[in-house]
Amino acid sequence: KFDIEAFKAQMLDRIKAEVGNREVICGVSGGVDSTVLAVLLAKAGVKVRCIFIDTGMMRLNEAAEVKELFGKVGVPIEQIDASATFLGALKGVTDPEQKRRIIGTLFVEEFWKVADNVELLAQGTLYPDVIESATSGSIASKIKTHHNRVDKIMELKEQGKVLEPLAELFKDEVRALGASLGIPHQALWRHPFPGPGLAVRIPGEITAERVATTQHADAIFIAELRRSGWYERTWQAYAALLPVKTVGVKGDERSYEQAISLRAVISEDAMTADWVELPYSVLRNASNKILNSVKGVNRVLYDISTKPPASIEWE
Ligand code: XMP
Repeated sequence: KFDIEAFKAQMLDRIKAEVGNREVICGVSGGVDSTVLAVLLAKAGVKVRCIFIDTGMMRLNEAAEVKELFGKVGVPIEQIDASATFLGALKGVTDPEQKRRIIGTLFVEEFWKVADNVELLAQGTLYPDVIESATSGSIASKIKTHHNRVDKIMELKEQGKVLEPLAELFKDEVRALGASLGIPHQALWRHPFPGPGLAVRIPGEITAERVATTQHADAIFIAELRRSGWYERTWQAYAALLPVKTVGVKGDERSYEQAISLRAVISEDAMTADWVELPYSVLRNASNKILNSVKGVNRVLYDISTKPPASIEWE
């Protein structure tokens, strides 16, 4: 059986020895791997700068929640609000691949602005990632190229400037390590969130207003899943904003407003997924709350598509 305390002690020693007096830079997103990594580095007592880039396409209050989480575990983070840059660059863009490229490129630019003369870069690579990058051309490795500028990182690797302390671990071991580092349960059992954020859940043009609508509906759905005990029984769940308007009635008036599609899936590895048979009461509560409080929305749908042929995200 895996002895987490002994493993942790050994890991902290190893990190201290490897880092020495160098400053480590660590990108954090609020996701499980980067959070465990950042806290581990801080606990090892090395000099570390944690950078969080707000793309403007995060979930409702996400930047504030990440700040609070790191505050709780006593690790300072630097937040860079780049939302105006991202939204500006995405203006008028509707092609999914182009949207991804823009976001990926900007993310990397923003990160390297801070990390340019980095002495040591820490990455939350896990064992399955190590295997995947060996099988080049996989979807997973393509996805990751968005946030790991491969050439720059290869160069740093050759110079011995990349630190990957989690590279021998599986996700459940990372969670166990995180728990023993005092990271709250909720942070360790967060649903995965894609690098491009809500952009892949907003087909069509992305505007600040459309992001806000999506965030609001998403927060309602997620709160309902948590309240009903379904959050941790789903692998990933979210609200998407569809690029259509449809006719409805509000009061005595005809309305012509937007549609929200809810999606909740279970999956092992994101390569295949099945939609979750949520209780009608959960769907009804989420739908009623969204229809009553999200401005500009008059229709809520539940996505009952398996992957394949659908993907988990919309784009
Ligand atoms: P799809 O939509 O391809 O998603 O079925 C599979 C899983 O990958 C996540 N995803 C991404 N993660 N960058 C990421 O870091 C991306 O560009 C990206 N696209 C999809 C998605 O949330 C799901 O968990």
